[in-house]
Amino acid sequence: MPKTVLITGATDGIGLALARLYHSRGDRLILVGRRTLADLDPQLFDDANYCQVDLSQVGAAAEIVRFLQAQKIAQIHLLVQNAGVGYVGPIAAQSAASIRQLVNVHLGAPADLTQSLLPWLHPVRGKVVFISSVAAGLPAPDYAVYVATKAALDGLARNLRIELGDALPIQVIHVGATRTGMHRKAGVDPARMDWTRFPPAEDVAANIALAVERNRAEVTLGATNWILYRSGLWLGGMIDRLLMRRSR
Ligand SMILES: NC(=O)c1ccc[n+]([C@@H]2O[C@H](COP(=O)([O-])OP(=O)(O)OC[C@H]3O[C@@H](n4cnc5c(N)ncnc54)[C@H](OP(=O)(O)O)[C@@H]3O)[C@@H](O)[C@H]2O)c1
Repeated sequence: MPKTVLITGATDGIGLALARLYHSRGDRLILVGRRTLADLDPQLFDDANYCQVDLSQVGAAAEIVRFLQAQKIAQIHLLVQNAGVGYVGPIAAQSAASIRQLVNVHLGAPADLTQSLLPWLHPVRGKVVFISSVAAGLPAPDYAVYVATKAALDGLARNLRIELGDALPIQVIHVGATRTGMHRKAGVDPARMDWTRFPPAEDVAANIALAVERNRAEVTLGATNWILYRSGLWLGGMIDRLLMRRSR
């Protein structure tokens, strides 16, 4: 049965690959991004499925609700909260605007959007998927705010799962390093990190779609990522002390 799938951050990277994948399956798409429609592939994006909104701004969720009402969309079967931004560097050099952007895009918007879309999700027992990162369980100096907002997103999902119970499945997917534009946009120095060796967004999107079909509440994509994420959680103190010793 074709579903209605809403994807945030659908204009690039993993979100765009997910949009292409669900489009190829014949699902109805609602695609959310901050770019103008004129900058996007007309084969995939059009007036009826693209909602241009900046998720770092207060009121973004209300704009998406208005878009759904205007398009007479009454149900959402799958809400993929994927939009993300990066920042790399010491916090001393990070602007207040960048800190606020990370908090709003990774935590504020997903919380607002989940709350606002409950009337669209409840009638069909729709599923909410949060795209998190293995970094949420790991120490990652120079990515402090990014990592903290992803850990906060995990906390939001965990508690919503308990609060909403069987009425609304909530899933967190921990993605590992992926070959997307995020690293360049975040200011990562290509000499320090060669992101071309990471798996492509299309492979990661295919694994996300598989995880969505299975009903595990929390999924980490890839065995190495699973070990990394779990080690970060279970051996956290020890790893932190090692890193601090190395940085002295
Ligand atoms: N790439 C990795 O190594 C990696 C690893 C772990 C987890 N993740 C997570 O995977 C998700 C997707 O990341 P990606 O690697 O695919 O990054 P990406 O290629 O940069 O795509 C991110 C998407 O989010 C959109 N976006 C960012 N800020 C927005 C805003 N304020 N309002 C609306 N849309 C906004 C971007 O729009 P623009 O096209 O305008 O930039 C883009 O469509 C993120 O949640 C990220 O944290 C990525």
